[in-house]
Amino acid sequence: MLKIENLSAGYGKVQVLHGISLDVAKGSLVTLIGSNGAGKTTTLRALSGMIAPTGGRIMLAGTDIAGMASHDIARLGLAHSPEGRRVFGTLSVADNLLLGSFTRLTGARPRGDVGRDLDRMYALFPRLSERRAQFAGTLSGGEQQMLAMARALMLGPEVLLLDEPSMGLAPKLVEDVFATIALLRQNQVTMLLVEQFAAAALEVADIGYVLENGRITAHGPAAALKTDPAVRAAYLGAAH
Ligand SMILES: Nc1ncnc2c1ncn2[C@@H]1O[C@H](COP(=O)(O)OP(=O)(O)OP(=O)(O)O)[C@@H](O)[C@H]1O
Ligand SMILES: [Mg+2]
Repeated sequence: MLKIENLSAGYGKVQVLHGISLDVAKGSLVTLIGSNGAGKTTTLRALSGMIAPTGGRIMLAGTDIAGMASHDIARLGLAHSPEGRRVFGTLSVADNLLLGSFTRLTGARPRGDVGRDLDRMYALFPRLSERRAQFAGTLSGGEQQMLAMARALMLGPEVLLLDEPSMGLAPKLVEDVFATIALLRQNQVTMLLVEQFAAAALEVADIGYVLENGRITAHGPAAALKTDPAVRAAYLGAAH
């Protein structure tokens, strides 16, 4: 569904990604783990067109989207729930969710049943349901994270990119986020997950990739990576 080949990207003269390759099969959950500054967020930004790749190909369902504008990439079904929950603070929860479905409402993506999908989001995230009319900017951090995920899902995406959905959340909410991700996976939502909690991410994912200084240094079935001594020492805490 999403196939990244030899992707390079960076900021100005600073190259961050040095030719990474990564595969996300339809219906699978792939996690990208790595230390702070490894280039995980940069990878997702290059995929969704927030920055222009300097080399390589990004095949989304057979179309090379490398270098395309973000709105065109969204039309093709790539949804990005960015780091730091960028919700529209002066709009209500309900309006944020409707904006997520904008390309469906304009006919740029299959329309489906937007109302039914809204109901689904409220069922998946009851806290959002209770706060439909509230300004998104006044939600708690955890609630804003839920809203960012739900808004991305309202695109009806072919592939969902999730950047640190658990960041800054209390342990109970982190559990909730991972339970939601597991549920989405059961529902065959194709996902690429970047997570600081590598152990939890490998627990829920099918396939894992390790990114170090802009290069993929290991990949394979998540269960195998979890028991890999080098991965354990670097990312899972060897004592666990
Ligand atoms: N807008 C920017 N301009 C210049 N350099 C940047 C910019 N954003 C990120 N970088 C640099 O690119 C490198 C990779 O950053 P990136 O945000 O992709 O890391 P990350 O793996 O997501 O880390 P974290 O786990 O801390 O979120 C870092 O060295 C960072 O300082
Ligand atoms: Mg990041």
